[in-house]
Amino acid sequence: MASIISTTNASSAVPLAGAKVVQIVGHPQIDNFLTSLTQVSGWTIAFTILALLVAYDQFSYLRQKGSIVGPAFKIPFIGPFLESVNPKFEEYQGKWASGELSCVSVFHKFVVIASTRDMSRKVFNSPMYVKPCVVDVAHKLLGPTNWVFLDGKAHVDFRKGLNGLFTRKALESYLPGQEEVYNTYFERFLRISKEANGPVPFMSEFREVMCAVSCRTFVGHYISDEAIKKIADDYYNITAALELVNFPIIIPYTKTWYGKKASEMVLEEFAKCAAKSKVRMAAGGEISCIMDGWVKSILDSANYRERQEKGLSLEGIEKPQPMLRSFTDYEISQTIFTFLFASQDATSSACTWLFQIMAQRPDVLDKVREENLRVRGGDKNKAITMEMIDEMVYTRGAVKELLRYRPPVLMVPYLVKKPFPITPTYTVPKGAMVIPTTYPSLRDPEVYENPDVYDPDRYVTGDAEVKGAKNFLVFGTGPHYCLGQIYAQNNLALMVGKAAMELDWVHHPTPVSEEIKVFATIFPKDDCPLVFTKRP
Ligand code: HEM
Repeated sequence: MASIISTTNASSAVPLAGAKVVQIVGHPQIDNFLTSLTQVSGWTIAFTILALLVAYDQFSYLRQKGSIVGPAFKIPFIGPFLESVNPKFEEYQGKWASGELSCVSVFHKFVVIASTRDMSRKVFNSPMYVKPCVVDVAHKLLGPTNWVFLDGKAHVDFRKGLNGLFTRKALESYLPGQEEVYNTYFERFLRISKEANGPVPFMSEFREVMCAVSCRTFVGHYISDEAIKKIADDYYNITAALELVNFPIIIPYTKTWYGKKASEMVLEEFAKCAAKSKVRMAAGGEISCIMDGWVKSILDSANYRERQEKGLSLEGIEKPQPMLRSFTDYEISQTIFTFLFASQDATSSACTWLFQIMAQRPDVLDKVREENLRVRGGDKNKAITMEMIDEMVYTRGAVKELLRYRPPVLMVPYLVKKPFPITPTYTVPKGAMVIPTTYPSLRDPEVYENPDVYDPDRYVTGDAEVKGAKNFLVFGTGPHYCLGQIYAQNNLALMVGKAAMELDWVHHPTPVSEEIKVFATIFPKDDCPLVFTKRP
């Protein structure tokens, strides 16, 4: 049937084509060719188009790959998508070891991985060519207008308005809220261990305590304990959605869909907090959390602007630096959410490894305990101050070494804005993802002696601080370096110091305790089985 229709169509075209064509058609070889063309089925056409697309996909990959290391062929269209759904630390390590620059292509995304310290630093420090893209799905979770996606001057200006929230004075004002959360959760750890009467994997508990401490620090008591619990529970869905490369659209009931639902819930909760903070700060309330600090700066700026416009005296009124515009409750919520987004997985990872390693290293834990009691003058219930944290040189060293030894963030995806000549012989194409890594530079044996050993003394009596200044990429570097890095380290020092004074804990190792599971950040594969007891 198909061939009859095709033949009919071919012959009917002849008169329209003119005498010359008729002559050609009369040629026996051409005749044969045309006959076979007319017999081509729909399937053949479909397969031919597919083959052309596969060839184009392959060709495009090889062209972008150029001289750098990467698979010789790409699995048509999807690339190693299935591997990226369940990333393995060992596969990442293999990739890092394969060359200072290597590549993969997943769906339409061409990804270049920068493995060495210098290549990674070059990416972090090239804002002309790159901008953060967190991971693809982050735009959908945080909203494309979120400040973290701003670039250039707009980013610098916005960030200036947030710097005041992380000054020493500001950080000190958040300490009581942090202590309160740790007191509550340490009791809970004890209860869990007692009820289980044996080891319990604590990773999810650590995620919850970190979420609670973040929420209290970011939005104070504007949020209820129940809402914190819900955020902590549902935050798992946000993390689960954060794969390096996702399916391009959000399909209902998939990970990205659940992630989006959870982020909408958090944004709604934080927007309610913003409304309450505005009322309280306008009434002259004290700053008790990050949101208050930002709302106060916004209100102070509005007040200053208004007086200026009305020609009222500005004597004795300090001009807010920088002057901030007004932000809606939702915009405030969006910004505070970025702090939770940036901190939750990283601090949960650090917290989990910190508890695991302290249990394995009583020599370190004893020193942390001794130091924490000493700075509090022997009274373990004494409220923490910034001066005390300054004095905890060993505890801070133990935290810093933990971050070197188990860096929570292995890679930081950036988007290439325009062709990026990263080496004299290779240019990363526009639209590609380029990913600086942190792990290899933190395990560099030329900088850190015995890099695979956890040794806080390198930061206490050793030279790691100075010698490793360029290698310590745990918090990134360049215009987007981590805004919360001092807060994060102080918070971890406070947590482990308090735990050391109040708790004893035993790690129950399994064969996979030292193996790394990648879940946005890194965790021990067995989720850290521990037993907590109260210290006498
Ligand atoms: C151990 C904990 C943490 C680690 C390892 C960590 C690591 C990082 C890294 C690697 C980056 C990317 C830097 C770059 O692109 O150069 C980053 C950015 C960021 N972090 Fe953290 N972070 C931690 C905790 C926190 C906390 C607690 C907060 C907030 C209170 C925070 C807020 C941010 C923000 C807002 C950015 C984006 C900055 C920008 O784009 O200008 N982080 N962090």
